[in-house]
Amino acid sequence: MATAPKRYLVTSALPYANGLKHIGHLAGAYIPADIYVRYLRAQKRDVVFVCGSDEHGTAIPIQAMKEGTTPQAIIDKYHQAMKEDFNDLHISFDIYHRTSDPLHHETSREFFTYLNDRGELETKETEQFYDESSQTFLADRYIKGTCPHCKSDRAFGDQCETCGTALSPDELINPVSTISGSAPIKKKTTHWYLPLAKHEAFLRDWILEEHKQDWRPTVVGQCKSWIEGGLQSRAVTRDLDWGVKVPLQEADGKVLYVWFDAPIGYISATRQWAKDTGNDWKPYWYDTDTQLVHFIGKDNIVFHCIIFPVMLKLHGNVLPVNVPANEFLNLEGDKMSTSRNWKLDMRDFITDFVKKENGGDQCVDMLRYYLTQIAPESKDSEFTWKGFQDAVNNELVSIFGNYVNRTFVLMHKLCQGKVPKFHAAKSDALDAQLEKDIQATREKISACLEQYSFREGLFEVIDLARKGNKYMQEKEPWIVAKSLTEHPEKQELIDNCLHHCLQLTANLAILIQPFLPSTSRKMCHMMKVVDKMLDWENAGSMKLLSVGYSLREPQLLFRKIEDVEIADQITKLKHASMNDASTPQPTAEPAHAPLKPEIVIDDFSKIDLRTGIVLSAQKVPKADKLLQLEVDLGFEKRTILSGIALHFQPEEVVGKQVVVVANLAPRKMRGIDSQGMILMAEDASGKLHFVQPSSPINGGSTVS
Ligand code: MF3
Ligand code: ZN
Repeated sequence: MATAPKRYLVTSALPYANGLKHIGHLAGAYIPADIYVRYLRAQKRDVVFVCGSDEHGTAIPIQAMKEGTTPQAIIDKYHQAMKEDFNDLHISFDIYHRTSDPLHHETSREFFTYLNDRGELETKETEQFYDESSQTFLADRYIKGTCPHCKSDRAFGDQCETCGTALSPDELINPVSTISGSAPIKKKTTHWYLPLAKHEAFLRDWILEEHKQDWRPTVVGQCKSWIEGGLQSRAVTRDLDWGVKVPLQEADGKVLYVWFDAPIGYISATRQWAKDTGNDWKPYWYDTDTQLVHFIGKDNIVFHCIIFPVMLKLHGNVLPVNVPANEFLNLEGDKMSTSRNWKLDMRDFITDFVKKENGGDQCVDMLRYYLTQIAPESKDSEFTWKGFQDAVNNELVSIFGNYVNRTFVLMHKLCQGKVPKFHAAKSDALDAQLEKDIQATREKISACLEQYSFREGLFEVIDLARKGNKYMQEKEPWIVAKSLTEHPEKQELIDNCLHHCLQLTANLAILIQPFLPSTSRKMCHMMKVVDKMLDWENAGSMKLLSVGYSLREPQLLFRKIEDVEIADQITKLKHASMNDASTPQPTAEPAHAPLKPEIVIDDFSKIDLRTGIVLSAQKVPKADKLLQLEVDLGFEKRTILSGIALHFQPEEVVGKQVVVVANLAPRKMRGIDSQGMILMAEDASGKLHFVQPSSPINGGSTVS
């Protein structure tokens, strides 16, 4: 066997601190990394597991606008929340850092300077959209317009929210700034670029040759199409005032592009960990005997396999040995989506299961179990509540939990609560087979985990428990016990069976530990053994529990998931997504409409506003949105068409006091002259409200 590497550095993608994360994220980048790390730790390997919040990029100020607060408040809130959620789900980071930390700013500025000083970056002047009234360059997300494909007006400079097409700001029809609402101009700006084409040969050799066998085919495939599609230079700076300032005088007002600084966050986190624990961080990033492994979701592949490795190579760092990216996890037949509210947040599972009265650590392990069992390792997979219930009830409860429970119950009943002796003279083929199975399973699981096949590794653990059940079923010690009065020597057969069943239980505790750490701990408690027993090298042994040692009473490892629990979850999911459909999409827009350009009082005084009362209202044929109103202005009656038919029934409107724009030029719609306009207020959910005098007033009164 090859000697083990000196040390491991394991990373999980730094989640954006702009919202809570869902179970798709958890299954993609956090649970598999945690299993891997726990497996390495069980072998006493030198491993550091780093993560932290990604707190830069336009996602943060956009979320701040949406929540009506500051970017700083957003990152503080979500950094804390995500950190707690990971902790509640037993993701065992050695450090959970954050990219707003000064140490990270320093680390990423140093990185940029190093590359720039060596001429590895190039500058280019381009024209970009600029908002004159707010004097800012506009990030793609800050430009709104009409989609060239579906003509929806919910299109942004990076993507159309209606049809999903990826866009560039230049493609938008009638682009406007979401900050001021005015049309942006084009202005020249200089940026720093990482010329990827220069590194094509390196990337081809390193990924398409060296790693074509040991990286996942989906990962190599994505890299291949990137490389073959032609490697473009990537801008590593942005005109934005939120992020790591570019450390150059001539780059005033510019920050490092979030995808440049975020992966450097892995280095900053390692530095912070070393500082906190009195270690040296440098070998983890410079010594070639380090195994760097990035756990990510598939949307992060190019950054971790192409761009960041080029940066690392230029900076003299180690390169990742593997990037086991996962595909996506769907939910109940549909893609998970924050904007459509079709998702299960980690926080929701924690609240509804883990922190419930009958919840606790066992529910953490139930989720870890199901998410590993369906991990989207080679293709997209799907979370269903029924699937969750089946996995828990039919596997964790019926196979694993049941095996452990039966073993303990029988041991107390037939062996006085002590580990019985194994009588070698009475050993049979079934015993020998079980011993072999335990040995082989340890090897199989090790091989799976070394290759990042977590699904299969977990399957092997359960399969071993299944074999334990079968062994017990074939030996039937409870039947043997019935003949003890006539044949007292048969106690030896019972002893042998339970001796083996108990040794298997101890083995299962070791083998399940990386996957379900709490379950393993509970088993150790029942067996009255210390953590030391869980060392991976102990797996395979039939001497883990000493003969004569008395063990505790069994505790149930897992409870069942009831039908009503999953029915409730499905209702909740559907309800949340329905509610969301009626409100504006939260990803895209600020909660308030942008302010229009400034006017002077003379502009305003041109508008003649009058009070009125609605005398009658009726629907306009073939126009879903229009109501035809007759409004009494006191001095005259007007016919006004108002676009409120989707919000109000005609009878709700009759008798209402309203404010009318009384000097608006008449306009013909559907063959009817509309002589004015009614003022309405629209709230954030899109609901309309009449603007009204606070008490009854004569028609025709002026409003100013
Ligand atoms: N914040 C990114 C995302 O959620 C991931 C960043 S990973 C890092 O997609 F490497 F850049 F840190
Ligand atoms: Zn579109």
